[in-house]
Amino acid sequence: MPPFLLSLLLLFTISVPFSSCIAVGEVITCSGIVPMKYRNDKISIADFGGVGDGKTLNTKAFREAIYRIQHLRRRGGSLLYIPPGVYLTESFNLTSHMTLYLARGAVIKATQDTWNWPLIAPLPSYGRGRERAGGRYMSFIHGDGLRDVIITGENGTIDGQGDVWWDMWRQRTLLFTRPNLVEFVNSSGIIISNVIFHNSPFWNIHPVYSSNVVIRYVTILAPLDSPNTDGIDPDSSSNVCIEDSYISTGDDLVAVKSGWDEYGIAYGRPKLWHHYPEDNRIIPVRWNSNRK
Ligand SMILES: *[C@@H]1O[C@H](CO)[C@@H](O)[C@H](O)[C@H]1NC(C)=O
Ligand SMILES: *[C@@H]1O[C@H](CO)[C@@H](O)[C@H](O)[C@H]1NC(C)=O
Ligand SMILES: *[C@@H]1O[C@H](CO)[C@@H](O)[C@H](O)[C@H]1NC(C)=O
Repeated sequence: MPPFLLSLLLLFTISVPFSSCIAVGEVITCSGIVPMKYRNDKISIADFGGVGDGKTLNTKAFREAIYRIQHLRRRGGSLLYIPPGVYLTESFNLTSHMTLYLARGAVIKATQDTWNWPLIAPLPSYGRGRERAGGRYMSFIHGDGLRDVIITGENGTIDGQGDVWWDMWRQRTLLFTRPNLVEFVNSSGIIISNVIFHNSPFWNIHPVYSSNVVIRYVTILAPLDSPNTDGIDPDSSSNVCIEDSYISTGDDLVAVKSGWDEYGIAYGRPKLWHHYPEDNRIIPVRWNSNRK
C-alpha cells in the first residue's frame, strides 16, 4: 500500500470512530472510551490453590477461579488478583465482567508443553488458517463473545515463553497456526493497561471482530529476530484506541488488519465499523459517506 494511503487510513481510524463522543477540537485520548471499573468482589488465585513458584502448573486454579466469576455473577463483576510470584499455566479463557489484576512482580507464564495446547477453529477471515491448514492453537489468554473485561495491575508480566514456538516455525515443524498471547474474539468493552507482555509465541494482542477496546500503558517486548511477534493487531474491529505504550518486537508494532487476503475479502468485515449508540447499530464505515 502506498504510504499516503496508509496515513489516510490512520487518520480515519483516529477521527471517524470517536467523532460521536468527542467534541471537535478536543484532544483525543483513550480516556473514557471504555470506563475503568472498580470491582467490589475480589478473589485471589491463591484462594484456588495457585502457587507462584514458577514450577507448579496452575491451570486448574485459573480455570476454577474464572468459572467461579462466571457462575456466581457478583454485582459489578469480580477481580481476580495475581499476587507477586511466577504462575506457570496452560492457556485459559476469560469471562465477562472480570478484571485480571497482576500485582507488581506477578508473572503469568505460559507452559511450553505445545502438545497439550488446545486447538480451536480457524477464524473465518483467515480461511484455512494463517500458518498451517486446519485448526489453530487457542491464544494463551483467550476471550470469546465477552464484554466488560479488564487486564491491568501494577505492571506485572504475561510471559509467553515463545522460543519453543519460534523454533518450530524456523524448523518448519509447526502443526497448526501458533497461539497469540492475548486474543479477544467478538468482544467489546475491553481495557488492557499497565501490563508487560513478554516473548509471545506469535502476535501479542489480537482484538478481532471486537469493538470498544482500549490498550494503554502497556510494554510489549520480544527479541528483534523472533518471527511474527507483532505487538498489537486490531483486526476487523472498531473503536480500538491505543496510546502511551512501548513496543519492541520482531515484527510489526501495531498492524491494523481485516483478515487475510482472499479470505478476509470473502468474509468482508472491514477494519472500520461505526457504532451508533442511539440504536446500537454497528455499520461498516464507507470512505465517501464520511467525507464531511
Ligand atoms: C475456551 O474457549 C474456546 C473458544 O470459545 C472453546 O472452544 C473452549 O472449549 C474453551 N475452553 C474451556 C476450557 O472452556
Ligand atoms: C458474539 O457474542 C455474543 C455474546 O456476547 C453472541 O450473542 C453472538 O452470537 C456472538 N456472535 C458470533 C458471530 O459469534
Ligand atoms: C507502569 O508502566 C506504565 C507504562 O510504562 C507507567 O506509566 C506506570 O507509571 C507504571 N506503573 C507502575 C505502578 O509502576
